[in-house]
Amino acid sequence: MPMTLQTLSLPLKVLVTLFLLTMGLGYLFALAYLYLIDVEPHTKHGMGLVAAVIMKYYGQRETTRLEAALGGPMGEYVTDSQRTQIVQWIRQGAREAGFARVQPILTQTCAGCHSAAAGTGLPLLTSYTEVARYTAVDLGQSIKSLVRVSHIHLFGISFIFMFTSFIFVCSGIPVSVRTFLVAVPFLAIWLDMGPGGSPSMTQFLPPS
Ligand code: HEC
Repeated sequence: MPMTLQTLSLPLKVLVTLFLLTMGLGYLFALAYLYLIDVEPHTKHGMGLVAAVIMKYYGQRETTRLEAALGGPMGEYVTDSQRTQIVQWIRQGAREAGFARVQPILTQTCAGCHSAAAGTGLPLLTSYTEVARYTAVDLGQSIKSLVRVSHIHLFGISFIFMFTSFIFVCSGIPVSVRTFLVAVPFLAIWLDMGPGGSPSMTQFLPPS
């Protein structure tokens, strides 16, 4: 006779029930974490829930952190023409060759706070290498954090899928539905981690 949930012994039923309840609780906490850490601070500034989640995982590709800073809180330290010059340099690819054009502006207007000499501990904006960190397009999660997080998660999540799916497989739902649904989570996570699925993986793709 095939194993079904009804035929499980009482201790197994208790185990399965507590496991599912705890997983459900974990899921709620995960949603709460996403909301409190990544969404709420942004929605406070008027950003929508979906936009905040996209910014966290997909990044803000239409701008760079330097340009965003110049358009926002750092804007008051430059004149309009200085800002235009820096923004033009960024949009032309923020190349080292053209850095000589913007370096004097940065030294004059930003170094007061953003240099080792200023000793403020703020991001340094004196050399090309330092500035380049803020002119890279924001792709959300970096490839390094992606591989670090992914390898742990692929192991861990497989176990979650295995246990929950196993319990689900023992239910009385039609076989075709069960077969389909046990495959879905695995396919989904492959898609999520694969190139294109995760924004960071597009760093491997040639620039369009
Ligand atoms: C009076 C001091 C001061 C000056 C001058 C100043 N900044 Fe800043 N800057 C700050 C402080 C404080 C922060 C950190 C708080 C924040 O992000 O608002 C910061 C943060 C930044 C950041 C990091 C933002 C991020 O994405 O984390 C960038 C980029 C930046 N400034 C660029 C500039 C540029 C470019 C200039 C010159 C046009 C400039 N700043 C001039 C004080 C200054």
